[in-house]
Amino acid sequence: MNILFATSEAVPLAKTGGLADVAGALPKALGKRGVDARVVLPKYEEIPAALVGRFQLIAKFTVSFSWRNQYCGLLKAELDGITYYLIDNEFYFKRKGLYGYGDDAERFVFFSFAVMEAVRYMDFKPDIVHCHDWQTGLIPFLLKTRYAYDPAWANAKSVFTIHNLKYQGVFGRELLQDLIGVGNDLFTYETLEFHGAGSCMKGGLVFADKLTTVSGSYADEIQTEYYGEGLDALLRHRSADLVGIVNGIDDELFDPMNDAALHFPYRSSLSRKRKNKLELQRELGLPQSESIPLIGIVSRLVEQKGFDLILRTFEELLQEDVQFVVLGAGEGHYEHFFNDKAYWYPDKVAVWLGYDDRLARRIYAGADMFAMPSKFEPCGLSQLISLRYLTVPIVRETGGLRDTVQAYNEFTGEGNGFSFTNYNAHDYMHTVRRALELYRDEEAWKQIVANGAKEDYSWNRSAKAYISVYSQLIADGKEKETWPVTS
Ligand code: ADP
Ligand code: GLC
Repeated sequence: MNILFATSEAVPLAKTGGLADVAGALPKALGKRGVDARVVLPKYEEIPAALVGRFQLIAKFTVSFSWRNQYCGLLKAELDGITYYLIDNEFYFKRKGLYGYGDDAERFVFFSFAVMEAVRYMDFKPDIVHCHDWQTGLIPFLLKTRYAYDPAWANAKSVFTIHNLKYQGVFGRELLQDLIGVGNDLFTYETLEFHGAGSCMKGGLVFADKLTTVSGSYADEIQTEYYGEGLDALLRHRSADLVGIVNGIDDELFDPMNDAALHFPYRSSLSRKRKNKLELQRELGLPQSESIPLIGIVSRLVEQKGFDLILRTFEELLQEDVQFVVLGAGEGHYEHFFNDKAYWYPDKVAVWLGYDDRLARRIYAGADMFAMPSKFEPCGLSQLISLRYLTVPIVRETGGLRDTVQAYNEFTGEGNGFSFTNYNAHDYMHTVRRALELYRDEEAWKQIVANGAKEDYSWNRSAKAYISVYSQLIADGKEKETWPVTS
């Protein structure tokens, strides 16, 4: 089975969030089960030089989209048993960061067309192109239109995974039509048009043969108006082809027994874990104490992650005997808020603004609890990493958080974390308070941690679920449905 992952980020090359973790770990897990899964992504400036150095240029060609003709280099390397391809065009990708440029539409339309062309030079014929999020949403569209009869893609099917429905790649209609080179007949409400504009995500949602998303609960939620981001009707329409498969984590990359960023390796010992806590407190200038509960946050600082609840209750919670460590980057008002609190409460709050993988690992290891009261959460990897590092998650019951964290029940002794239902600041605060209370009850705390530690958060189960999606699609001999090719 040959699967080509088309993605805008993948560990270990480029990462801004969980998509990169998934696109790095799932192909490995598939590989262990006999699937040849390869990954293609843009050659960004920020890919570490040591890794770029391992790639070889295997082809140079021109990518034509609409009236544009652009250079494309194709590079290839095997990293940790997985074959990666990089799409090289310095005009589009030799920039700081991954996203957020005025010409992102053009950059990812180019990338989508480049992937369609690149298979000619790969010496690898995908049975399935597995696309992720809006940046690659046009690939399923191209597969059913312009490339429908292209021998390079003969019999190929597509899978589109929604990692986050909120980011849709919506651009001006004229711009997208001009970039893709499609006329009005192929740009309708049934295809890419979205409220007078154009949507790259719809390219995936309408045209992919199968849709997946990253948890069962999120698969249900996005078919409702509240979570559907304006696409719930389309998702209900496609519900027979939509499946939720919960993410795993790479248990080799995230292993507290074998993590180079930590001072004290540990697996199940809370006392060894707490040595990491003392180190973290020292590193961040907080008073060193094993007994003060430490709540960690490692996150993009965006509304999705529940920061409005965290901000609203922060002062009140600081009245407790507690420490907060926050690592994140994102919206300015959240950044200012945390900086301000770190200034006024230097003994209770430590903040590091930016992206730092090693510090993140030390926080997962050093914190007692991890706060993630998300407004919505397709899956969430941070709570899984926390559980693996014996850190107890405090979450809102939504999406993947709901599917992976069970509230502790003091009567049955079951549960691996703390949770609440409504998106309400005081419900969050009471839940944190309950966690702080139970932290003082050593036996109960050990039980909660042990409940979390005994579960398997790896890709074992979910890799099998993806293989069954791929197999169904390949077995499904039905003629490819195609759309007219226009220019
Ligand atoms: P999302 O993809 O929505 O951001 P996830 O929980 O799925 O959320 O994945 C986030 C990933 O990014 C985790 O691996 C988390 O540890 C990491 N991460 C988020 N912010 C930072 C940061 N500032 N520094 C280092 N790692 C971060
Ligand atoms: C998105 C979601 C997150 C999910 C990740 C990987 O970034 O916000 O919940 O875990 O993708 O699928």
